[in-house]
Amino acid sequence: MQPAIETVKLVRVFSSPQGEFRALDEVSISVPNGIIYGLLGPNGAGKTTLIRILATLLLPTSGDAYVGGFHVVKEASKVREIINLVSGGERPGYGILSVRENLMYYGQVYGLTWSETKRKIEELDSLLDLSDFLDKRLNRISTGMMQKYALARGLINDPEILFLDEPTLGLDVNNARVIRRIIKSLVEKGDIKTILLTSHYMAEVEELCDYISIIDRGRIIAHGTPDELRKMVEKEIIYDVDIRLRDVDRINFLKRLDSVIGHTVKTRQLTGEARIRIILSSEDIGRIIRRFEDEGVHVLRVTRSEASLEDVFLKLVGKGIGDEEG
Ligand SMILES: Nc1ncnc2c1ncn2[C@@H]1O[C@H](COP(=O)(O)OP(=O)(O)OP(=O)(O)O)[C@@H](O)[C@H]1O
Ligand SMILES: [Mg+2]
Repeated sequence: MQPAIETVKLVRVFSSPQGEFRALDEVSISVPNGIIYGLLGPNGAGKTTLIRILATLLLPTSGDAYVGGFHVVKEASKVREIINLVSGGERPGYGILSVRENLMYYGQVYGLTWSETKRKIEELDSLLDLSDFLDKRLNRISTGMMQKYALARGLINDPEILFLDEPTLGLDVNNARVIRRIIKSLVEKGDIKTILLTSHYMAEVEELCDYISIIDRGRIIAHGTPDELRKMVEKEIIYDVDIRLRDVDRINFLKRLDSVIGHTVKTRQLTGEARIRIILSSEDIGRIIRRFEDEGVHVLRVTRSEASLEDVFLKLVGKGIGDEEG
């Protein structure tokens, strides 16, 4: 069976006065039908660029991409008939119209009749639980409601393939959970055949996705099922070292140690502590702890840790997915 989505050596170059920038560098992916496929990567990795090319909103520089078997450049209008795109944090629509009026409008845009659209909105209401705010003005609803509305808008044309770009961006824990549950049910119940979603939250793709590609600086650096990815780090030696928050500036020496494959820092403002997660190529933690003390960093706790999906990125790139450059 042909894949739902396929890209072959897809390249996108952005030109600016400063020079050329390769946002996508020979990306080849294949997404089978019937799954939720996750594209995981840090800021600037190229996730939105890839999704915009697949959604026919942006042209590739070279390479090919197919959605539902149609070429995204040569058969763009065919692609548009079977897809929709929802971008987290975006507020598509007219603020002064109600949610219902906006959905009616988008129904018309997709060529539905008035009564078809009305029926569709009822269906979306029972699926997404929109009734509390269907008749509120779009510019008066909360971020959580906005995201539900954005999903409703993305479903109005019954797409076969749905693109979700950071679907829980900016949502609180509870609203994010609601949206994730809905996303999962869409494919389980067969409302949508295939979903490609992007995220920079490891936990999110781990929970939702049947298959994950990790993208960094325009390249796919790893891919597999969550289990396959976890296996990549199963044998790694991983420690969590807790230190005082004020000492965080003093741990740059970790980058220069041969036995350290990578480290991430998670700050915990509440306790005034920071947790440094370190992946080691050899059992060298004793020496590393001594180095901490030599640098004047008081070590509060050291724990040997189980590898998680998040460590795949740490192992391959040497830093965490959400870490700042530098
Ligand atoms: N229109 C554009 N012109 C120039 N550069 C661009 C343009 N769009 C994106 N880029 C650059 O391409 C790179 C990839 O951007 P993209 O938005 O695809 O990343 P992303 O993975 O979606 O990141 P984020 O997690 O921040 O959404 C970035 O360095 C970005 O600055
Ligand atoms: Mg993006």
